Amino acid sequence: MSFEDMATVVAIDQASTPDPWSRGQFQQSLDEHHCVVMRTTSAEGEEILGYAIISTVLDTAEILNITIAPQHQGKGLGAQLLAAQLAALPSAVTVVHLEVRVSNIPAICLYHQYGFVEVGRRRDYYLTEYGREDAILMNLARV
Ligand SMILES: CC(C)(COP(=O)(O)OP(=O)(O)OC[C@H]1O[C@@H](n2cnc3c(N)ncnc32)[C@H](O)[C@@H]1OP(=O)(O)O)[C@@H](O)C(=O)NCCC(=O)NCCS
Repeated sequence: MSFEDMATVVAIDQASTPDPWSRGQFQQSLDEHHCVVMRTTSAEGEEILGYAIISTVLDTAEILNITIAPQHQGKGLGAQLLAAQLAALPSAVTVVHLEVRVSNIPAICLYHQYGFVEVGRRRDYYLTEYGREDAILMNLARV
């Protein structure tokens, strides 16, 4: 992910989640975290299909954001992006954390498929249209 990708990434995030990140959050992530975009190139030009942002500290990684543009969801790209990012983690990483809305069934199913398990909840953590909802905390242990 480069600074030039920022406008597209922000637009995809706004179209994909009820609580999108600000441009500032993405820009700060560029400095502080591992940020990647998934691109495709065709006769029409280049297109960003999705992105992932991962923080790594010593033996621990956290998936801070993984998103596929709405028009490209359900085609196996999210699984491809997650698998590639997990495979690229430094070998020192023994555990991967993430948080997900309790209502985000597609993401929860994806994480289960890759071996993540629920390890806790944060009650009323996320704002929704109708009130608040819990965050599920998930871990993946790496051997
Ligand atoms: C979560 C997300 C990244 C998945 O990406 P995707 O490209 O749509 O998912 P894929 O097509 O690769 O599907 C991979 C797996 O995810 C799960 N999944 C995807 N869409 C699903 C749906 N509508 N219902 C249930 N499970 C679903 C399934 O386990 C699926 O595996 P399967 O096809 O073998 O059943 C995507 O839906 C997204 O960007 N959502 C908005 C942003 C978001 O919520 N990110 C996660 C924040 S924690």
